[in-house]
Parts: sequence; C-alpha cells; structure tokens
Amino acid sequence: MGIIYSRAILPLTTARATTTSSQTRADPRAKHFWTKDEVPPLDGKVFLVTGSSSGMGWYCAKTLAENGGHVIMAARSLERTQKAAQMIKDSGVRGKVEAMHLDLSSFRSIKEFSDQMHKREEKLDVLVNNAGVFLVEHNRTEEGFEVVQGTNYFGTFLLTHLLLDKLKDTAQNKGHARHVPSHSVSHPTWIVTMASLFELLGWIQWDDLEGQKSRESGVFEYSTSKLELIMMMRHLNKNLQGTGIDCLISQPGLVKTPLNGRKLDHRKLSAIGVDLATKVYGQEASQAANCLIRPATDPTVEGYGGSYFSPPWLWLLALNFDHAAMREPGNSYARDEAAWERLYQKTLDIVNKRLIERGLPQIEAVSASMPARA
Ligand SMILES: NC(=O)c1ccc[n+]([C@@H]2O[C@H](COP(=O)([O-])OP(=O)(O)OC[C@H]3O[C@@H](n4cnc5c(N)ncnc54)[C@H](OP(=O)(O)O)[C@@H]3O)[C@@H](O)[C@H]2O)c1
Repeated sequence: MGIIYSRAILPLTTARATTTSSQTRADPRAKHFWTKDEVPPLDGKVFLVTGSSSGMGWYCAKTLAENGGHVIMAARSLERTQKAAQMIKDSGVRGKVEAMHLDLSSFRSIKEFSDQMHKREEKLDVLVNNAGVFLVEHNRTEEGFEVVQGTNYFGTFLLTHLLLDKLKDTAQNKGHARHVPSHSVSHPTWIVTMASLFELLGWIQWDDLEGQKSRESGVFEYSTSKLELIMMMRHLNKNLQGTGIDCLISQPGLVKTPLNGRKLDHRKLSAIGVDLATKVYGQEASQAANCLIRPATDPTVEGYGGSYFSPPWLWLLALNFDHAAMREPGNSYARDEAAWERLYQKTLDIVNKRLIERGLPQIEAVSASMPARA
C-alpha cells in the first residue's frame, strides 16, 4: 500500500513529499524514543560504513548486517577491519559483510577505494561517513592538510564526491529521481555523516581551510572539521534535490570509544579532560551508535535531508532516554546557506588543485542545476 508523506518540513530540510494513497507517514520529528528494534529488514540493500573497525562504526555495521544488509566495512588498517568484520560474521548475522582498505588521509587511497567500489558493487544505498580522528599528535596528511581536518573533512569530501554517481544511479533505479512520477518510502538512498557536539566550538578560517598555519591537531581543528562536515552536507543536500538522495547528520554526544580513550594524545591537557569527562558522562558505543543507525535505516526520515540526529542536552545529566531525535546544531554557520556555498566552492578548488598535483582526475561541483542522471 502506498503512503501520504507529511508535507511538514524542518526549516533547513528539503522534504520530497508526495501523495500516493490514504495513509499518513508518521512525522519523524515527533519521535522521541527510537531503538535498534525498529530497524526494518535491510535485505538487498548495500551500505558502506567508514571507520567501522571499532567504536560506533562497528556497532552500526553489526546492526545493519543483523537485519540483512550487505555491509562494506572500510578503515585505514585492513587487518583490523578484517578482524572486526570476522567478529560480526562470527556472531551469526544474516547479511553479507566485507572489509576494505580506505585511508581518508590520502587522496590516492580514496581514489583507489572508489575505483574498487565501482568495480565490485553494482549499487550503493547508504554511505555512512563515520571515520574520524580527534586530539592526535600534530601531523599532516599526504596532501599537506593538518591531519584532523585533512582526514575528517577533506577526505570525507573527496570520498563522498567520488561515490555520488553510484548513489545517484541507485536512487534512480528505485525510481527516486525527479523525472520519475512516484517513489517508494521503503528504499531510500542516503548519505549519513558523523559530526560532533564540538561543532559548537568550530570556526571557519577562510584564509586557511587546509590548516597550513596550524601548529596543533587539537580541539579547534576537530571542532572546525565537524562544523565543516555539517555545512558541506547541508549544502550537498540542497543541491541534490531531485536526485533521490538525502544527506543526514549525526551527533552522539560523548561516547566511550578508543577515540576518546586510548587513541588520544595524552600529552594534551584537553585530551586528559575529554578522557575524564567521557569516563564520567560517556554513553556506551553500542547505545550511541543509534545516532548513526536511525538515519541510515528509518524509512520515515526519507525526505528530511539536512536533519541532525542527536541526544538531548539532558544527556549531560546522564538521562540517556533518547539517543537519536531530530534537533538543530548550535553553531550559526550550520544555518548560514551563503557560508555553506562559500565553503563548498573553496573546498572544491583546494581539492581539485591537490588532485591535479597528484595526477588524479578532478571532481565536479554538485550544483542545484545539475540534472538527474538519465
Ligand atoms: N567517541 C565520541 O565521543 C564521539 C563523539 C562525537 C563524534 N564522534 C565521531 O564518531 C566517529 C567514530 O568515532 P568513535 O568514537 O567510534 O571512535 P573509533 O573507535 O576510534 O572509530 C574511528 C574509526 O575511524 C577510523 N579511521 C581513523 N582514521 C582513519 C583514516 N585516515 N582513514 C580511514 N579510517 C580512519 C578508525 O580506524 P583505525 O582503527 O585505523 O583507527 C576507526 O575505525 C568519528 O568521526 C568521531 O569523530 C565520536
């Protein structure tokens, strides 16, 4: 049976609502409790989860496979990712699980990964951009970016653009693209990206997006990388209208994972503070992963691109009653469409300059006028 979609639209979202019969789809914004038990069967769907060798990415991959999804797990150590994939297989999941190598701090690795994905996979239903680094030793990526911004933002930017054609084709084959009169609520195509509550502290350095002047890989660099991801996803979501792809954003709060524990550079005072705060207030990764799993699977959020899934501020008092509701990021840049556009154009120029230097093909801008693929 078909479904009438709610026409209600979040201020910053782009609902693609259509009416196909007499039932009303539940408004996903009114949902204050969501658990993994609500994940629908995912058989026949292909998911890519970056950074799934540990932490929330691993729990996300496991839940997707438990519900029948075909999950490609990707992270920078192939050995660790293979072991992580094997643990999921050994738990007796229904879906297929594969491990692949992807280093988001290297444009060459990202291109090789994308080439492999195009060769191996016929389609891609959901891209989960989860991988990230935080408060690590100051360093630079292969392309010379400060390592946190280079990995979290520039690497994710390039990967997303290289996989867009596959996502668009997948959406179109389901009848989601704009020239097709109707579409089904049951097979959305999504890009889900992991942000952080640190986005609040982010500030765009317009004259130094690459972090050339940066002497740290600290809280500022991390916060800014997560703010940039939110801005990029909201800009992409706006410009991808009509292609059948929604871009959704997650923010899980403070979570007990290796990122906030053993992987921190403990010579930094901020790292000691984060480690302590996580031990006191942090959620378990298995629970916090709901912030990724809901936007990657809940069919009612289709058409609500640009939305931000987060626990409530009461979470700070350890009242973890609601882990994946639709809220708003706090940083004003996250609501500034002109800033999204400016950041997007500048990033594209920087990325293409580096691609040329590496002898790799450039990527195309995603513009609102771009037609759905024929
Ligand atoms: N923990 C929190 O409190 C918290 C809060 C808000 C947001 N987040 C975000 O949540 C995401 C997942 O983090 P987590 O907390 O679950 O920590 P985690 O267990 O450390 O997971 C991070 C994942 O990213 C991978 N990764 C790191 N650098 C990479 C690279 N260059 N290329 C490809 N993969 C790379 C890691 O692989 P390796 O095994 O090779 O390191 C790992 O699989 C991150 O984006 C993080 O910023 C975390």
